[in-house]
Amino acid sequence: MDYDIKDLTAAPKGRLRMEWAARSMPVLGKIKETFAKEKPLRGVRISACLHVTSETANLMEALKLGGADVRLCASNPLSTQDDIPAALVKYHKIPVFAIKGEDHETYYRHILQALDHGPAITMDDGADLVSVTHSKRRDLLPGILAGTEETTTGVIRLKSMARDGVLRYPIIAVNDAQTKHLFDNRYGTGQSTLDGILRATNVLLAGLKFVVAGYGMCGKGVAMRASGAGAHVIVTEINPIRAIEAVMDGYEVMPMAAAAAIGDVFLTVTGNKAVVRKEHFLRMKDGAIVANAGHFNVEIDIPALEVLSLGKRRVREFVDEYTLRDGKRVHLLGEGRLINLAAAEGHPAMVMDMSFANQALSVRWLLDRGEGLDKTVFPVPREIDEAIAALKLASMGAAIDKLTAAQKKYLADWREGT
Ligand code: ADE
Repeated sequence: MDYDIKDLTAAPKGRLRMEWAARSMPVLGKIKETFAKEKPLRGVRISACLHVTSETANLMEALKLGGADVRLCASNPLSTQDDIPAALVKYHKIPVFAIKGEDHETYYRHILQALDHGPAITMDDGADLVSVTHSKRRDLLPGILAGTEETTTGVIRLKSMARDGVLRYPIIAVNDAQTKHLFDNRYGTGQSTLDGILRATNVLLAGLKFVVAGYGMCGKGVAMRASGAGAHVIVTEINPIRAIEAVMDGYEVMPMAAAAAIGDVFLTVTGNKAVVRKEHFLRMKDGAIVANAGHFNVEIDIPALEVLSLGKRRVREFVDEYTLRDGKRVHLLGEGRLINLAAAEGHPAMVMDMSFANQALSVRWLLDRGEGLDKTVFPVPREIDEAIAALKLASMGAAIDKLTAAQKKYLADWREGT
C-alpha cells in the first residue's frame, strides 16, 4: 500500500486516541453502524484533504466501513497528529500522506498522491484539493462526481470559483450546515484556540488585553472563552453589523491600529490576509503575542514582520520571538498557522461529531443523487442537518417539546392575533 507518514510504530498510540475520540462521537458512531450494514459507498473512490486528527480518523473509518476506497492527505502542513496516520495505515489499511511540519513542496506532493486513485468524490478543508484538481490534475475532472467542503475559507474560495464559472463539479458546503458552523466554529474554535495559545505560551489570560480580529462564529467563540477566562476582550471588525454585535456582547470595538498599541495577545480569525501588518507590529508593546486561528497563514503579515526584525529565535516549541530594530519583541505563535491545531489538538471530538456526520451523510446524499447537479456550491440538505441535530440532542440526554395541534394551527393561521 502506498503511503507517506512519519512513523508507523506510533500506530498503537494513534489507535487509542481514535478510540478516545470515538467515545464523544455518538452520531458518527451511528453512521458507522449503518454504513457497515448497508455499504452505501461501496467501491467509491474518495480523496480527502482534512486536518489529520483523531476525529478525522473516525470519519475515515466511517467512510471505509461504508465501502469507500479512501485516501487522505493533510489540509495544513502543521496540523497532522503523527500517530493518527500510523493507526490509519496499520489498522485500517487507509493510505495516508501527511507528516506534521511537512514543507510546502511535500504538502502539495501529498495532495497529488491523495488524488492518485482518481476520485469520484473529493472531501476538502480549505479547497486546496479542489484547486489542485482544477490546475495540476484537470485530467481527473471528468471522473469526479462531486465534493464536500468543511470550512468557511474553502466555501468562500469555491463560491468565487462558481461565480467565475470555473468550478467543474458540484460541492456541498458542509461548513454552512447549522449543526456545523453554530457549534464547531463557535464552541470548537473558542475552546481549542485558547487551548493552543495556552499550550504554546502558558500565559495567564486573566487581566490580559486580548484582541480578536474578526467577529464571525469563530471570533465570537474565542471572545466568549477569553472573556470567561478573565481577559479584557477587544474586537476588530470590518463589518458594521458584526461590530454592533460585539459591542452589545460587552466587548470594546476599535480599529486594529488602535488595538495594536494596547493589546497583549492578538488573535486573527477573519479569513482575510494581512489583518495584522507592518503598521500594527510597529505600534505593539514589547512582549506582544500574535497568533492566528483562520484557515490560512496569511492573516498575519509574517514577511513584513521578518523585514522589520533584526532577528528571530525559537524560545518555546511554538513561539518565535522576533526582535524589532528598537529592541521590542513580538512573539509569533505556530508560524502563524491555525494555533488550535498546530499547538493543541483541534476542536474536541464532541463537536467534530456533528461536523463529520454532515460530511459522511452529504457524501451519501451526493451518491444517491448521482449526476445532474449544477456545478456550483450547495447547502447541506435540511433534512440531514435536522436529523443530525436530533441524534446529537438525544445522545446528550436532552429532549425537547413538540408543537400541539392548536399551536401548529396558530402558526399557520394569519387571522389570529391577540
Ligand atoms: N478542524 C478543527 N478541529 C479539527 C479536528 N479536531 N479534526 C479535524 N478538523 C478539525
